[in-house]
Amino acid sequence: MKFGVIGAGQMGGGIAQVAAQSGFDVVVQDVKQEFLDRGRAVIEKSLAKLHEKGRLTDTPDVILGRMEFKTDLNAFADCDLVVEAIVENEGVKADLFRQLGQIVKPEGVLASNTSSIPITALASASGRPERFIGMHFMNPVPLMQLVEVIRGYSTSDETAQFVTQTAERMGKTPLACNDFPGFVSNRILMPMLNEAIQCVMEGVAEPEAIDGIMKLGMNHPMGPLTLADFIGLDTCLAIMEVLHRGLGDDKYRPSPLLRKMVQAGLLGRKSGQGFYTY
Ligand code: CAA
Ligand code: NAD
Repeated sequence: MKFGVIGAGQMGGGIAQVAAQSGFDVVVQDVKQEFLDRGRAVIEKSLAKLHEKGRLTDTPDVILGRMEFKTDLNAFADCDLVVEAIVENEGVKADLFRQLGQIVKPEGVLASNTSSIPITALASASGRPERFIGMHFMNPVPLMQLVEVIRGYSTSDETAQFVTQTAERMGKTPLACNDFPGFVSNRILMPMLNEAIQCVMEGVAEPEAIDGIMKLGMNHPMGPLTLADFIGLDTCLAIMEVLHRGLGDDKYRPSPLLRKMVQAGLLGRKSGQGFYTY
């Protein structure tokens, strides 16, 4: 099977890596060679770590040998499945799927790793809504078990089955849900992170204390502010905006502090500064 991934950022790189670990031939595309080089370096580091722990079936070299890194979208023409993992912006994703629908062979399945954007809208843009689906991996992809599988209004049973089986072949546990803003994962997770940010803004506690309270008190592996920095504050804001717009309740209003930090370029771990310094 030939597996395509669009975007070599933290999610696209992770998805491509796990696909190659699972024996698929993988093409990764991004808009600039430097983004591909950066993505490849992250994959190499992760593979080295997993290899050291004896968690890979093949050597890192064999796995990397299954991967191609391209800037040209035409590289996806003969892919059986293409998973998109670019910026969380409906307009940008829809434009991309309009192009991909023309490039990928007609029987190929298109999937989005979006955190919150309506799958049905992206499916319409692709021109092949029955062969379109949400395939939502969790960060960090090489370590996290879940893939949330989101059916759009017109997704066929065959497409849902194919993507479910592919997630299983990647060693993941697929769980199905329907197409509502934020699906299940981010409808529940993101308001908690937003509330933690609101606590910082209101001076309820210092970031370290908020994270410590949730880690030690609730047994969460990461505190909510560490997790927001890890996900990317730009992505958190984009998800909250989709929830607020799509569900219409003010309980989903993005914290003004979150908005201000994104405006200031404080995006968390990826920019070197968020609630903490990296
Ligand atoms: N590849 C390979 N190894 C990795 C890795 C990667 N990508 N990331 C971390 N590791 C390794 C670390 O190097 C470390 O190795 P050593 O033990 O040899 O030092 C090991 O994994 C464990 O890492 P940590 O010491 O940091 O310990 P941890 O126990 O905290 O585990 C974690 C890390 C699994 C990420 C854990 O902190 C965790 O589960 N955090 C929460 C993650 C989460 O909630 N993800 C979902 C985010 S929401 C989302 O994804 C959806 C969305 O749309 C926004
Ligand atoms: P990121 O910023 O790390 O990476 C995005 C990558 O996409 C960048 O390398 C960028 O150059 C590339 N890109 C942007 N526009 C492009 C285009 N038109 N064509 C090709 N490449 C393009 O972002 P990320 O955290 O990997 O998030 C990607 C997607 O995955 C988003 O939709 C996000 O909501 C979703 N997601 C994120 C997380 C997370 O924890 N960060 C978890 C699950 C899902």
